[in-house]
Amino acid sequence: MNESDPKLRSAHSIAHSNIALAKYWGKRNSELNIPAVSSISITLEALATKSSVTFDPHSRGDSLEIDGERFDTEKISVVLDLVRTQSKITDVARIQSSNNFPTSAGLASSASGIAALTIAAASAAGLDLSRKELSMIARRGSASAARSIFGGFVELHAGSQQDGSDSFAEPILDREDWPLEVVVAITQSGKKATSSTTGMLSTAGTSPFFDSWVNSAPAKVAEMREAILALDFQHVGELTEQSCLAMHSLMFTTVPSLIYWNEGTISVIREVQRLRASGTECYFTIDAGPQVKIICEPANSASIVSAISELPAVVEVRRSRLGPDAQLVNPK
Ligand code: DP6
Repeated sequence: MNESDPKLRSAHSIAHSNIALAKYWGKRNSELNIPAVSSISITLEALATKSSVTFDPHSRGDSLEIDGERFDTEKISVVLDLVRTQSKITDVARIQSSNNFPTSAGLASSASGIAALTIAAASAAGLDLSRKELSMIARRGSASAARSIFGGFVELHAGSQQDGSDSFAEPILDREDWPLEVVVAITQSGKKATSSTTGMLSTAGTSPFFDSWVNSAPAKVAEMREAILALDFQHVGELTEQSCLAMHSLMFTTVPSLIYWNEGTISVIREVQRLRASGTECYFTIDAGPQVKIICEPANSASIVSAISELPAVVEVRRSRLGPDAQLVNPK
C-alpha cells in the first residue's frame, strides 16, 4: 500500500493515558456510552499511544493493529462511524498504534488509544472540531478516553441530557499549575480477565451498593474538584483512595465478583500506608487491573520508586509527570 497516494487521507497523533482520582464505573446509557457518574482524572506523560489513521477506499474493513498485533475493531468503529458521518467520508480506515506500556492490563490503553484515534481520524477526515467535540466522540468509544483529549487535571461530566450532549470532558487545572507525579507499580503485565465495559454492566445489575455509588457521586466529585483547585494534596489523596476503594467494593460485590487485584496489589497498598506512616506522603489508586498508581509530590517520587521496586511482586515501576493534551504529530 502506498501511503503517499494522494487519494489516501492520513493523520498521526499522540495521546496519553490517564488515571481517575474520582472514578467512573457504571453507565446511564450503554448505547451512547454515557457514564452514570462524573469523574476526574490526571493525564500521565509517561504512558502514551501513538496512532496513525488512514482512510483507504481500497481496504475491505476497518482494521486495527497495536504494536503489530491485530485487534478487534468494535470500539474504534464507533468512533470512526461518527467521524465518517460528520465528514461524509465512506472509506474504511486502517489504524496503526503503538503503546509504550502493556496493552489492556489496567493501564488505560483504551483511554490513550481511543483519544489518539479520535484526534487523528477527525484530522484525516478534514474535520475542524473543538476539543469538547473531540472528547464527546472519544467518549462514545471509551468514556475514559474523553478525559485523555486533555492534559493535566480533567473532569468528565456525566451530564443529564438523554442524548449525551452534556457529557464531555474539560480541563480543570493545567499540569504546570500543580506538577504532581505518579509512580506506577506494575504487578502483572498480562491482559485483564473482564473488560471494564462488561464489568460495569454486570455491577449495575447485581451490586447492592450501585445506587448509593451513583447517588453519592456528584458531592464527591465536587469535593475532589475543590480540593484540586485548592492544591490541597492531603485532601486530594484521601479522596482518591476513598473513590478507588468504593469502586473496588462495587466490583467485589458484583455477582459473579470482579476481583482485579492480585497479591502484588495488596503489597503495594500496604507499602503506601507504611511510607505515609513514616512521613512520605503518597496515596494509591487502582483501575480495572492489578496495577497500582501512587500519587505524590515530585520531591518524594525517587524514594517511593526505590521502596516500591524492592517489593518482590512488583515486576516493573514507571514514574510519570502529568501529561499534555492529545495532539497531532508529523509522520516519523
Ligand atoms: C476503572 O473507560 O475503559 O478505569 O467506557 O466502557 O470503555 P468504557 O470503560 P473505560 O472504564 C474505565 C474505568 C476505570 C475508572 C476510570 O477510569 O474512571
